Amino acid sequence: MTALDTAALLREAEAILRANDRGTYTVPTEGLYPFQWNWDSCLTALGQARFDEARAFREIETLLDHQWEDGMVPHIVFHQPDDGYFPGPDVWRTGRAVPTSGITQPPVAGFALARLVERARDRAAAERAARALLPKIAAWHDWFMRCRDPEGTGLVAIVHPWESGRDNSVDWDAALARVSTEGVEPFVRRDTGHANPAHRPTQEQYERYVALVQGFRDLGWDNAKIHDASPFRVVDPGFNAILVRSGFDLARLADELAEGALAARLRGQAERGLAALDGLWSEAHGQYLCWDRVAGAPVDSPSVGGLLAAFAPVPAPRAAAIARRIEALAERARFAVPSHDPAAPEYDGRRYWRGPLWLIVNYMIADGLRAAGETAVAERIVADSLALIADSGFAEYYDPQTGAPCGGGRFTWTAAMVIEFLSRERQPA
Ligand code: DGY
Repeated sequence: MTALDTAALLREAEAILRANDRGTYTVPTEGLYPFQWNWDSCLTALGQARFDEARAFREIETLLDHQWEDGMVPHIVFHQPDDGYFPGPDVWRTGRAVPTSGITQPPVAGFALARLVERARDRAAAERAARALLPKIAAWHDWFMRCRDPEGTGLVAIVHPWESGRDNSVDWDAALARVSTEGVEPFVRRDTGHANPAHRPTQEQYERYVALVQGFRDLGWDNAKIHDASPFRVVDPGFNAILVRSGFDLARLADELAEGALAARLRGQAERGLAALDGLWSEAHGQYLCWDRVAGAPVDSPSVGGLLAAFAPVPAPRAAAIARRIEALAERARFAVPSHDPAAPEYDGRRYWRGPLWLIVNYMIADGLRAAGETAVAERIVADSLALIADSGFAEYYDPQTGAPCGGGRFTWTAAMVIEFLSRERQPA
């Protein structure tokens, strides 16, 4: 491994964030992703805050400016036309003045906002921003309860693999196979022109992704109908853990801002989610598993989604078991944490979410494990993350066995996470 030159890495990370900054939002990377993505932006704000706090809040404000009237926060905001991405606004047809996609993404905004405020150097400005953002993010959480947990189980479902952020995870294979591709309009992918096709989802997966989009479009993007009508409804432990963690963090922030009723509502939702999450635990796998709501069965897939659950304040024995599981995975890969178990037959170390390691996931898992007292594993994850950057640059994701950079380059949230890892000593405990 190349020796870490902390100052040089921080300089490079900041340069990437500035280069991808479009003024009020940041693109994930040139070319491959030319718009604003939901969870990218929220995690990016953490890195931006280290050198420009006001700009960091702006990143989240811009995203929330495009919240739907029903509370949903879309996964992409198409701020300006760009033919280099598929599917663009002409496919989504959500009918908004500034076009957006019609699905959502992991709700990490609450966590990010709370963290920005707790670290703020300009506390008054941070509280002003938080007062405006808090009810909007809370409305998004309410939307999840209403539209993605209509039976009140405590856990929310995703209706499209893109919502998970882990697009082509093995977790979705069986559920996605049930999505019919009949009637899918012809399309030309753009992603494979920017990144190595061997690092991206397959054509068959794309056809099913588009089939789901067309199906929701046919329902007029009515979220009162989409959940029950979708042939793809999966409960993802990682996604739910992010919602739970954001809920608790926002509740704490709401208390600080003397918004007692809001705090109670958010905390109640998060407590229900945390209790229900335990139903996804698999003793056999030593981790959480997804639940297929259409099939009414667990998804037998040892992916990082079940480890990311450590981001929520899960019971100590669960966090300890996840830490042991990560230690075992680290023996099968040079760098922790692979997005799929290298021992599983479907593992593919370079194909997006079927094996590669992602810094944002490492960041959230390490954060949760550190809070649970699993410090050694958390430190190992951070050290592996930084070793990868020093060796392979600021890629979108990495092969966990060779360390090879994969996907897009000069990647925004990778840079933001490097800033986070290297600035940790300045964070409150
Ligand atoms: C993509 O286009 O690869 C995105 O992950 C979908 O949001």
